[in-house]
Amino acid sequence: MSLESLAAFVEALDRAGELVRVTQPVSVELELCEIADRAMKQPGGGPALLFEHPVLRDGSRSAYPVGINLFGSMRRMAMALEVTDLDAIGARITQLLEMKVPEGFVAKLSLLPRLLELSKFPPRRHDGRAPCHEVVWRGDEVDLDRLPLLKCWPEDGGAYITFPMVITRDPVRGIRNVGMYRVMQTGKATLAMHWQRHKVGAAHWRAMAERGERMPVCIALGGDPPSMYSASAPLPPTVDEFLFAGFLRRDHVRLAKALTCDLEVPAEADFVLEGYIDPAEPLVTEGPFGDHTGFYSLADLYPQVHVTAVTMRRQPVFPATIVGRPPMEDYYLGHATERIFLPLLRLTVPEIVDYHMPAEGIFHNLVFVSIDKQYPGQAQKVMNALWGQGLMSLAKVLVVVDKWVNVRDAQEAWWVALNHLDPERDTRFTMGPVDVLDHASRTFTYGSKMGLDGTRKLPEEGFTRDWPRVIAMDDETRKRVDAKWASLGLPWR
Ligand SMILES: Cc1cc2nc3c(=O)[nH]c(=O)nc-3n(C[C@H](O)[C@H](O)[C@H](O)COP(=O)(O)O)c2cc1C
Repeated sequence: MSLESLAAFVEALDRAGELVRVTQPVSVELELCEIADRAMKQPGGGPALLFEHPVLRDGSRSAYPVGINLFGSMRRMAMALEVTDLDAIGARITQLLEMKVPEGFVAKLSLLPRLLELSKFPPRRHDGRAPCHEVVWRGDEVDLDRLPLLKCWPEDGGAYITFPMVITRDPVRGIRNVGMYRVMQTGKATLAMHWQRHKVGAAHWRAMAERGERMPVCIALGGDPPSMYSASAPLPPTVDEFLFAGFLRRDHVRLAKALTCDLEVPAEADFVLEGYIDPAEPLVTEGPFGDHTGFYSLADLYPQVHVTAVTMRRQPVFPATIVGRPPMEDYYLGHATERIFLPLLRLTVPEIVDYHMPAEGIFHNLVFVSIDKQYPGQAQKVMNALWGQGLMSLAKVLVVVDKWVNVRDAQEAWWVALNHLDPERDTRFTMGPVDVLDHASRTFTYGSKMGLDGTRKLPEEGFTRDWPRVIAMDDETRKRVDAKWASLGLPWR
């Protein structure tokens, strides 16, 4: 049975001993963030927290509890996607992509369900009244001050929704996008939408602006955990995140028609903010915001969302996260993406064996890649391929090593790469788009990238000296020591 709702996930976390309930009143202004930060800095990510009595800015108690750090450990991330190991999802995708036609008619037939797996669980219309429509505020009833939006860090420009599924539609192709973009409250019924220029929601907005049409936007919170995660996944613009969520949970995501705009929203969502952006309106100031780089992102101009309705479940949980100096909860969301997307990267760059984005590299700053190197220049080929690939194009530093290196162990990856570098020969610089959050690039979203070739060099690459071997004890000696280990009285193995 797949997890239908955020409440079911919170309950599952509670049963698994992964959740701490905070019953004391805690302010949504900074206090909640400080407590959540201390949890997220615990080894392995700390516990999930359910703040049962958040205190709003006017001093009143929030009617809605806040769930935070719900995805913030390897175990909880796997629980959210209903697997014991995140690599299992990558393996499912690998199977899907293996198109080798088996021998024999019956075996060939068995290929069919595999091919259909991705499209087996498209989103479906919810029958009857959707849980997300149990309570409805329309028009003048909309008051975002009544929701527990967080002011996370002292210099933040306002209070934020930090764990949203922002739903928009491509006006040309009609394809839906669901993106996780933070939104800042600017008034009782207005928000600033922080979709960065490289993201699909921003592309939809540019297309609507070109047509001069009002853009419907829904911001859904909560619902089933795979849908919540999928909003953060870097899927191509042609893939609907709710189809992908259906694949992850092996069940359809049920959708309901929004009440005041022409979009569909997850029926099981805890909250939905419906509204629109008028591209003719001036942009508004968003930020500063204590960001996942560990530094404040500067204030900038973003489109304003007018909220026409807020709908919710009768007993919703308000999901939130915080970002800041790493590691934070988003490391685990990003880690799921890293594992799930490995087979898709391999599809176009088949020599990739593994890759890893360590927490301190906050995804775009540092990517380790191991490759099965067969010919000269292959490390550069991989760098160029990755810099040409979706959001990987924003990677600032790429470090390429040989296939035997465990890139998920950053110490091992650096040890080998630094040993194998002749800096002048093995460093490649190129120019291109860089992440909106990169505060060091010479201009906004444009700057340089560096690739480090930490692979073994070949004679064709101009290396004519002998290449040294890694130090390792011989098997004979290891076996002899194993045999006498117990008698040595040493406490480790
Ligand atoms: C916690 C969290 C917060 C994020 N905030 C933003 C944001 O404010 N703006 C943004 O453009 N991307 C943000 N991202 C990254 C996007 O969710 C991610 O790039 C996603 O792939 C975008 O979806 P899209 O490819 O459909 O545009 C955030 C990711 C996480 C995990």
